[in-house]
Amino acid sequence: MTPNPRTRTPLPKRTVSIIGTGSHLPERVLTNAELEKLVDTTDEWITTRTGIKERRIAADGETTSDMAANAARAAMEDAGISADEIDLIILATITPDFFMPSTACVVQTKIGATRAACFDISAACSGFLYAIEIAQQFITSHTFNTILVIGADKLSSIVNWKDRNTCVLFGDGAGAAILRHRAHGHGVIATRMGSNGGLADLLQVPGGGSACPITAANVGQDLQFIRMEGRETFKHAVTNMVDSARKVLDDAGLQSSDLACVIPHQANLRIISAVAERLEVPLDRVMVNLDRYGNTSAAAVAIALDEANRTGRMKVGDYVLLVVFGGGMTWASSVIQW
Ligand code: UT7
Repeated sequence: MTPNPRTRTPLPKRTVSIIGTGSHLPERVLTNAELEKLVDTTDEWITTRTGIKERRIAADGETTSDMAANAARAAMEDAGISADEIDLIILATITPDFFMPSTACVVQTKIGATRAACFDISAACSGFLYAIEIAQQFITSHTFNTILVIGADKLSSIVNWKDRNTCVLFGDGAGAAILRHRAHGHGVIATRMGSNGGLADLLQVPGGGSACPITAANVGQDLQFIRMEGRETFKHAVTNMVDSARKVLDDAGLQSSDLACVIPHQANLRIISAVAERLEVPLDRVMVNLDRYGNTSAAAVAIALDEANRTGRMKVGDYVLLVVFGGGMTWASSVIQW
């Protein structure tokens, strides 16, 4: 029988590796002592309730895309690739340079990745891991070979510097990873993603979008700033991070004792400790840098991954768990073999 020319043998699924990482933090350090002069707070309160000691703040004119492009350059150097090898740029952010064009397109021009297709995704603090999963689907399906994934946020641009409930928590920064198929390579083993839009009100920026544009009539109402119900967000963060981490470990056929390193979202040291305790992972196997950078939203886990990579916390073959939580509400967990 003549084979049907329209029927193609499916290509085998491909393993997807992170072949390079990079990050960028602005130079300006904002300490808890400086915040004591801005709002009614203390270094003692911030340290004991969050674990944060200082955070980085972008310079005047330093944009999300500037930080993202620097992180991307560092990741390309680490991976040993040039910009023209990049097929796709996925950038996760809630603080894009503009509504249009996408910040990924702005980064494309800054780094000279002229062959790449580009888009942004919005999943708040979970964005980087969502973007990693999207990238790995594109590579697994043979659509693209080399993908630049970036998590970048300039939260100082949407923080209300008069609101002590939020302004002490956040910082600016960017992290990036290059993903590529690597024969016999290690890679992303399993990912779980979840969302609950019914809890959107707990963490939001109410104004500035099409639902509530900033107009002359509402301009003084602080609608363009982050608002958060901290205590409720805290509870959902712990529950969903633990639940998704357990499920993804199960999918990967691993126990938490198999993990060499856990890289969690950097929102609050008490959240990280609660998650580690419930997963029965000792804290010395957990990556923590929020004392220096605060919560940088989509950038947080990307920066932590880069630090873990550069400080040799992960050796080839090690199992690593990434676990995130953010506005939406959204959450995700991935197990990666380094
Ligand atoms: O990245 C996305 C996900 N985000 C998170 O996961 C963040 C989750 N939430 C948290 O990390 C914590 O809830 C916070 C750090 C935001 C707050 O800590 P908390 O222990 O939950 O404090 P609280 O909101 O229950 O407030 C306790 C007290 C309140 O005073 P009263 O009402 O008890 O008199 C606050 O007004 O602490 C007060 N407070 C502060 N005091 C000094 C709140 N912020 C401050 C501050 N300095 N900066």
